Amino acid sequence: MESVKFRIEQLTRELNQHNYNYYVLSEPVITDFEFDKMLEELVKLETEYPQYKLGDSPTQRVGSDISNKFETVEHQYQMLSLGNTYNEQELRDFHNRIIKELETEPEYVCELKFDGASISVTYENGKFVRAVTRGDGTRGDNVTENIITIRSIPLSIDPKLVSDKFEIRGEIIMPHSVFDELNQIRERNGESPFANPRNATSGSIKMIDSREVAKRNLDCYFYYMMGRNLPADNHFESLNILKKAGFKVSEHSKLCNNLDQVFDYIHYWDKERHNLPYDIDGIVIKVNSFKMQEILDFTAKTPRWAIAYKFKAEQVTTKLISIDYQVGRTGAITPVANLEPVQLAGTIVKRASLHNADQIAILDIRIGDTVFVEKGGEIIPKIVGIVQHQQGSTPTQFIDNCPECGAKLIRLEGEAKHFCPNSNNCPPQIKGKIEHFISRKAMNIDSMGEETVAQFYENKLINNVADLYKLSKDMIIPLERMAEKSAENIINSIENSKSVSFDRVLFALGIRYVGETVAKKLAYAFKNIEKLSNATKDELIAVDEIGERIAESIIDYFADTNNIRIIANLMNAGVNFEIVEEQKLSEKLKNLSIIISGTFSKHSRDEIKDLIEKHGGKNVSSISKNTDFLLAGDNIGPSKLEKANKLGIKIISEEDFENMISNF
Ligand code: IVH
Repeated sequence: MESVKFRIEQLTRELNQHNYNYYVLSEPVITDFEFDKMLEELVKLETEYPQYKLGDSPTQRVGSDISNKFETVEHQYQMLSLGNTYNEQELRDFHNRIIKELETEPEYVCELKFDGASISVTYENGKFVRAVTRGDGTRGDNVTENIITIRSIPLSIDPKLVSDKFEIRGEIIMPHSVFDELNQIRERNGESPFANPRNATSGSIKMIDSREVAKRNLDCYFYYMMGRNLPADNHFESLNILKKAGFKVSEHSKLCNNLDQVFDYIHYWDKERHNLPYDIDGIVIKVNSFKMQEILDFTAKTPRWAIAYKFKAEQVTTKLISIDYQVGRTGAITPVANLEPVQLAGTIVKRASLHNADQIAILDIRIGDTVFVEKGGEIIPKIVGIVQHQQGSTPTQFIDNCPECGAKLIRLEGEAKHFCPNSNNCPPQIKGKIEHFISRKAMNIDSMGEETVAQFYENKLINNVADLYKLSKDMIIPLERMAEKSAENIINSIENSKSVSFDRVLFALGIRYVGETVAKKLAYAFKNIEKLSNATKDELIAVDEIGERIAESIIDYFADTNNIRIIANLMNAGVNFEIVEEQKLSEKLKNLSIIISGTFSKHSRDEIKDLIEKHGGKNVSSISKNTDFLLAGDNIGPSKLEKANKLGIKIISEEDFENMISNF
């Protein structure tokens, strides 16, 4: 029996190597026939001796008959997206921001931006363990069974080159040849074709039957390893190590010493992309040095050390039939064009955004015109110009009154959009505010959706967010499509929302310009709603990242008695309006403003920020005469030091900092 075990091991190893040669290196060394023979032998042995089947057996590549359920799993590291740039100036701005922060010019790695579906794969002890979709960035679907069928993704890798456990990110793609064939088959079978390879890819990786996925011939390029447990101090080197370890890594990545080389790369691929066997929608530019990446850090959603340059979108022409005016949750009016249906970048377009009154006037867009339509980075296509006016057409008159409630529209100074000021009585604004309030990142009242909000509003059960807390099961059950259980779920999730933290409650209120990050900053700076509502403009602006525009919007919000009444009702209902202080470690840094700069040997920058706050101090992001200390790590820029010296700010090391917060 030892010989069977040995043979199974040998076949597994050799077949995995052949898969790698074929799908990763594109250099097969045996014929398909020889491969199939070996695979057949392995299938037979595994069926007879299942006890010897290995975890990385290539026989799994054909899929299994277990139907997929896709449990939701949390990513160990968030799956962030990238900031986008659409022209060279925006890219120069990105470069200049980086130079300002680093005080030196970095090297960049330029990569193709694959247009597919991102995936996060976990390996443990050199073996493939799990593959998870991006989902909402925090949680995704476990699509392991389907991803195993992608033959270019290694089931085992050289464990010497990587750490025991790691997550690696890549993009699943469907090559053009596969896409064309798939659509031909679908049309022959009377099924609707996929709009583009990206849609076909995301559809494929969510299929219930992994045997069907195996037939889709998907591919995957890897481009980023989390946790950086690699013997490299830069991204380019890390890609090479990943390649050596067995991953498929694009051969088109390039190290660039300056911005001109980055532009050369972009220009080259803007033309050459049409000759690639798969879709790309741009170029990704990443700062090469890990140390510099760490200094540049992340915003809440994207890394500051990388950006995407998106290629110019495809354009088509069609006729503008009419213009609708939509009212958003904040009262902003968006003109939307109804178009003669036209095929654009794989989908049929019937509607397009017209942005605002200025845009319509500048382009002189008139009903009946033949217009250029473009699909940019956004999902909604936009009209970017006119080909010609229709004979006898007249200039478009922007509406004066709200199409929903009839109120006279206003246009604030410096604002591009018209607004309906009737925020407390205009139906789409009322519903929009409630929808925002219940959304996942706000109060997370997940048993309700857009339709439930509309239903409750139309039945006069709710007219503002505070009314949610007055609902009872008896009020909901008589409504259409509602039953005991659904009513109970709604009441329970409303009840649960009372424990949502203050920063999210603040975000949920939907104050104009107060997004998730700003809400967090405000909540921690003012600690409770009372202090925030009484804050002066100067006090608001003193908070990190709060500018004039945000400060004014907050003051306006609290000046509206209707808002005050809603907040009072929410408070009475038990919604959380103060920061429940995390346990403080000490008050050793009380009233001290500390700026950190550079990299540190014992702590990450985030740990240091956390320590400052836990010891009662304030971490500030820009240096001023009010700063007490500059905590300087390695690689700190000379101009920051000079500025600190000029302002007489004390410079301390990581060791000094540790002494300041220690107990001795
Ligand atoms: S790096 C934190 N590199 O683009 C860095 N992303 O718009 C994360 N993508 O979600 C991404 N090609 O799905 C990176 N060479 C590449 C990429 C790439 C395609 C996708 C990826 C990401 C999205 C961001």
